[in-house]
Amino acid sequence: MAKVTIDGRTIEVADGTTILQAARMIGPDVAPPTMCYYSKLKTSGGYCRTCLVEVSKGSEKDPRPMPKLVASCRTTVMDGMEVKNNTSEKVGDARKGVVEFLLLNHPLDCPVCDQAGECHLQDLSYEHGSAKTRTDFERRTFDKIDIGPYVQLHMNRCILCYRCVKTADQVTDGRVHGVINRGDHAEISTYIEKAIDNDFSGNVIDVCPVGALTDKTFRFKSRVWFTKPVNAHRNCEKCSGKVVLWYKGEDVLRVTGRKDQWGEVEEFICNTCRFEKKQTNDWTIEGPRQVSRHSVISANHYEVFKKPRELTINTIKPLESGEGNK
Ligand code: SF4
Ligand code: FES
Repeated sequence: MAKVTIDGRTIEVADGTTILQAARMIGPDVAPPTMCYYSKLKTSGGYCRTCLVEVSKGSEKDPRPMPKLVASCRTTVMDGMEVKNNTSEKVGDARKGVVEFLLLNHPLDCPVCDQAGECHLQDLSYEHGSAKTRTDFERRTFDKIDIGPYVQLHMNRCILCYRCVKTADQVTDGRVHGVINRGDHAEISTYIEKAIDNDFSGNVIDVCPVGALTDKTFRFKSRVWFTKPVNAHRNCEKCSGKVVLWYKGEDVLRVTGRKDQWGEVEEFICNTCRFEKKQTNDWTIEGPRQVSRHSVISANHYEVFKKPRELTINTIKPLESGEGNK
């Protein structure tokens, strides 16, 4: 076990736990934001630098501070480590820089983007970004690629977090897409523009933190804050069948996985549940979904999170040995 203090709050965690996981165990007020890490996907994290923190004391044995800010999703805790997240000025500056960097090539098209209202980059820029832009350069643009009947790819909005690639690798049984090219030319693409038609391919929509991968069956139907999310389930042979139905009036406009307080799906769902079951009588309705009161989706809803879901050491698994160094 290792004792770690984050923003003045101490917790004891299993060896191999990352700083980010320890911070999440303490609570959302000390947890750094993430754009690429996803607890349900192995080897995710390490790409976006959103989760940078300052290690002001390395460990009990070697109390020297770490010379640079570190990615909390990829750095494991040491006994006696002291970490600053919200209490560090350096972290605040660095995070502002990361937001600016992520927005260098991300179009400011929130008014027409289906992800608006549930976009992690939108939230991140509100919380940590600057109101001004310093770049005069044109943002990169890509030709449209059709990747199948269900998923819409808007490469211009992609921040190259690799979550969808890892989802396709680990959740579906045959990945046909990935990141091709390097640097400014890097892009998500299906090799030979092949459609992603796997039974679990729709999960790339849920893991994408921005509007780069959206649901073709929901596009332009409604702003998300005009819909009402409801928990529902059905007996499904392929997945748990536990979903959220997003209603407008009597109509189910879309079906998604259930997301936790970190914006991650609790369980991946299959394409049959997601795209083919859009009638209320396909489902057993459980009741209104609790929505964080900070979310724009909570507008006009009665059910809000009263208390963050409690996280215990058992609900967050430490990295497998050596994984933190990948
Ligand atoms: S398409 Fe979305 S999930 Fe995939 S790498 Fe880009 S931002 Fe990440
Ligand atoms: S969340 Fe840690 S680097 Fe992206």
